Amino acid sequence: MRNFELYVPTKMIFGEGEIKKLATEAPKDKKILLLYGGGSIKKNGIYDQVIKALKDHTFIEFSGIEANPEYKTLLKALEIIKREDIGYMLAVGGGSVIDGTKFLASAALYNGDNPWDILSKKIRTFKGLPFGAVLTLPATGSEMNSGAVVSRSETNEKLVMGGPGLFAEFSICDPTVVRSIPKRQLANGLADAYTHVLEQYMTYPADGPLQDRFSEGILQTLLEIAPEVIEDPTNYRAASNFMWCCTMALNGYIQKGVPTDWSVHVIAHELTAIYGIDHARTLAVILPKAYEKKFEQKKEKLAQYAERVLNIQEGSLEEKARAAIEGIEKFYKSLGIDTRLRDYTDSYEGFAQHVEKSLLEHGLTALGEHQDITPKVAAEIVEMSY
Ligand code: NZQ
Ligand code: ZN
Repeated sequence: MRNFELYVPTKMIFGEGEIKKLATEAPKDKKILLLYGGGSIKKNGIYDQVIKALKDHTFIEFSGIEANPEYKTLLKALEIIKREDIGYMLAVGGGSVIDGTKFLASAALYNGDNPWDILSKKIRTFKGLPFGAVLTLPATGSEMNSGAVVSRSETNEKLVMGGPGLFAEFSICDPTVVRSIPKRQLANGLADAYTHVLEQYMTYPADGPLQDRFSEGILQTLLEIAPEVIEDPTNYRAASNFMWCCTMALNGYIQKGVPTDWSVHVIAHELTAIYGIDHARTLAVILPKAYEKKFEQKKEKLAQYAERVLNIQEGSLEEKARAAIEGIEKFYKSLGIDTRLRDYTDSYEGFAQHVEKSLLEHGLTALGEHQDITPKVAAEIVEMSY
């Protein structure tokens, strides 16, 4: 196994009715900025629970953080943080609101002139403005990791940032929030979490049997509960397991000591940047073709996945590996998620060349567990996915 360090300081507060614990978790001696998205929390009762819990706190609100949080919007919040002398933030939302809050945590203490540099120059954040989170949408794992993704539509960019200063101090995860999530977002959450596990698992055998079994356990659980979650989001057993799977899929644990891929995410972000396609759906477009392209390098883990997760025992290693790719695509489709770019847009001609140029410009020139996915190879994968 490879050497590693694991630092995950977020206090997780999980379960029905736990939002009330904000009353004691959020600091009373600091002015808080309460951040949320387009308003779903006002319709499903989460906002009311939050406001009730914060009755003895000093806070102001900032709403309107969009799905795929926009740099321009976040700059408005940054101005408020500085003007109002905000000392703490509370993110109430899904990955977009939490990621937006992480950008603000970094930007609020950043000394440079241009906060976009944090993303474009890959500046890691070692200390950020502290924040807590109330998760309203299981998917990204942002509630327990230190990564964030920010979009800038005027330049068609979607870039990642991170660093040990960007963990939420606490995250409250009440699975009853799943009840109000539209089917499309439920499907996105399931597919995103599933893909997060694959990005950390589908590489090559690397003497990490525990990491493999953690991953296979999450994948099997997601396969098992997916139909139940989609069918009935009020099913607490399914919702709570869905929520915990999403967190565990990307809180750092399963990737320690083993190689990881992440090329699918990096390439897929380009699809959201240009076409505005939901994050999870972009993964479903890129992943099957990325695995076809890298078949020879991934076939052993693909076959292991077929055996252990899909229980396919017949056939050669190559046949099992091919069945694995088919099985993954079938899972996306079972969630109602299309797996070709042409299903989302007619104007895909030339997109592969755009991806090649964009990856090159952003210095993303050696992706994948072998760092051999160059911008040119990425473009070939994109072309296969049309
Ligand atoms: O804005 P509101 O009105 O709240 O509506 C949201 C939004 O439109 C709605 N929603 C959230 N909770 C709800 C709800 N609707 C009803 N009931 C609820 N309880 O759902 C919509 C999507 O929300 P969003 O936060 O955008 O979804 P998600 O959690 O999938 O986050 C996606 C973003 O996270 C990034 C993605 O790239 C994308 O920008 N990612 C972040 C990662 C991380 N930080 O580790 C990793 C991921 O791979 C991903 O890249
Ligand atoms: Zn993702």
